[in-house]
Amino acid sequence: MSYQNLLIEDKGRIRYITINRESKLNALNKDTLTELHAVFASTFEDQAIGGVIITGAGSKAFVAGADISEFQGKGVNEGSQMAREAQHSVFDLIANGAKPIIAVINGYALGGGLELAMACHIRIAANTAKMGLPEVTLGLIPGYGGTQRLTQLVGRGKALELIMTADMIGAEEALQLGLVNHVTEADNAMVKAEELMHKILKRAPLAVAAAIKAVSAAAVSEGFKAEIDLFGNCFSSADFKEGVAAFLEKRSPEFKGL
Ligand code: COA
Repeated sequence: MSYQNLLIEDKGRIRYITINRESKLNALNKDTLTELHAVFASTFEDQAIGGVIITGAGSKAFVAGADISEFQGKGVNEGSQMAREAQHSVFDLIANGAKPIIAVINGYALGGGLELAMACHIRIAANTAKMGLPEVTLGLIPGYGGTQRLTQLVGRGKALELIMTADMIGAEEALQLGLVNHVTEADNAMVKAEELMHKILKRAPLAVAAAIKAVSAAAVSEGFKAEIDLFGNCFSSADFKEGVAAFLEKRSPEFKGL
């Protein structure tokens, strides 16, 4: 398969996936999600590949979220469907994948971008990275597993603070919270990821796969389904329409609680 929105490179047993929509800060549109599903599904089948490192093109963003322009005009059913499909075909596929997946967060990781990084097994952040779940500024909640995985990583109190305020945090704070595993100088994030990946690839592959499966089993929760339904419900509000329109028109939203 040829990819329009991803760059794929294999070096030894590591597959490098780069999300390549730099002009849109690598935002995840439908086509990119379809390609991510395809590349991860084929990678898990490929005996030659031991693990994956995923990052974003350019130095500004890992991924600045789901592509907000695709939210416009959608209703409740389409909203829930979008979250359900993406969670199952991409985010859960990655989280439960049988090979180690490391995210190199090289810039903004916001909304669906942070959710993508959180679905990965290890996160390395450049010291310039900025992370957050800003969906409430759009009249939405995170819909790609963010309410669940952020809570699992940093605890309920801090997760609610970050989600309700929509605040962005820097790499050092993310490290303190346990949201990322390591912080490096921007130029060294990939080197650190490779160092960890090489170490993991020396371990017994079936045991590594079993470890991912067992740890993922601890993270199974009804909350993922609740998130899908609640995300979809947001699409019925006037505030959602206002939030999305305001982003696309590059102005501040005026929310009315309707
Ligand atoms: N969806 C669609 N397009 C996006 C996007 C997203 N999530 N994030 C950025 N873009 C686009 C912008 O619309 C802009 O496109 P344009 O040049 O055609 O107008 C381009 O990427 C560059 O972004 P811009 O906003 O001009 O960069 P900035 O440096 O001023 O701001 C951010 C950077 C990350 C703070 C800002 O882009 C932002 O807030 N993005 C949305 C984050 C978000 O809410 N994500 C959650 C979505 S659920």
